[in-house]
Amino acid sequence: MRRVGGSCSDAKTATTKDTKGHEENLGPGRSQTLADSPAIISDVAVRGRFITFEGLDGSGKSTQLEKLARSLRAHGLSVAVTREPGGTATGEKIREVLLHSATAGLSPFTEMALMFASRAQHIHEVILPALAEGRIVLCDRFTDSTEAYQGGGRKLGSKAVLQLHEILCGNLQPDLTILLDNEAAFSVDRARRRNRKHKGGRSEKGPERAAERDENRFEQESRAFFGRVRHAYLAIAHREPQRVHVINARGTPSETHADIMELVRKKLKI
Ligand code: TYD
Repeated sequence: MRRVGGSCSDAKTATTKDTKGHEENLGPGRSQTLADSPAIISDVAVRGRFITFEGLDGSGKSTQLEKLARSLRAHGLSVAVTREPGGTATGEKIREVLLHSATAGLSPFTEMALMFASRAQHIHEVILPALAEGRIVLCDRFTDSTEAYQGGGRKLGSKAVLQLHEILCGNLQPDLTILLDNEAAFSVDRARRRNRKHKGGRSEKGPERAAERDENRFEQESRAFFGRVRHAYLAIAHREPQRVHVINARGTPSETHADIMELVRKKLKI
C-alpha cells in the first residue's frame, strides 16, 4: 500500500482560497489514487500540508506549535491547530479517560486502541477536511506518539502500531514531523512542575485547557519509561529522516522557534 503522504514526485501546486477569498499558494499538494485505502482517505484529491509536533511531556511542543501557527498566519497562510489524543468531541472524551490519573488498570493494548480510536475520528472529522481545503494542519502529537509511548514505553513494539496505523488511519503520513528532543529527566520534571502549578491556576495551554483537568496519568510514569519513549522517538527519526526532523529543545523558546521556522520555511518554501 502506498503511503498517503508519500513522495513529492507527482506533486502539483495546490492553490486554494481562504475564507476571505484570498488565494493561498501552499506549494506542492498531492493527488491520490489509493484503491486499497479507506474511502475517506482516497477522497482527498488535493492536500494542504500536514505538520506534526512530537516529543516528551514537557518538551515545549505546545508552545512551539502556537508560535509556528502565529508565524504562518502572519505570512497569510490558513492554519488549523489541533491535538491528540482529542481534537474532536469524541476524541476529547477519549482523552479524558486516557490522561486522568484516576484511570486505573488500563491494559497497554486498551491504551493503544483508545489512542487510535481518537485518531481515526480526528482524521475523518478534522485533518482530512482541512487538508482537502488546502490548509496547513499543525497537530500536537500523532502516530509517532503511539509508537514512542505504547510501542516503546509500554513495550508493545512498533509493528502493531504501524499495522493499526495502516488499517485505521489509511497510513496517512505527515509531510513534516518536528521532534523536540531533550533529556527525559529534564522534560518530565518540567511537565510535572507545570501540572502542579496548574492545579487551581490557569493552563499554559490556553483557556480551552483551563478547565483544570487532571492530565497526569502519563507523567506519573518512571524515568525508565520516558527513557524508552525517547529512544523510540529517536529510532523513528533515524528510520524516516526525510519526514522526521529532530530539533534540539534545550535552548530558549525563541531559539527553538527560530530553528523550527528555518526548517518549515525550507519545507514549505515560504
Ligand atoms: P500532551 O497533551 O501532548 O502532553 P504534554 O503536553 O505533557 O506533552 O499528551 C498527553 C499524553 O498522552 C502524553 O503523556 C503522551 C500520551 N500519548 C500517548 O501515550 N500515545 C499517543 O498516541 C498520544 C497521542 C499521546
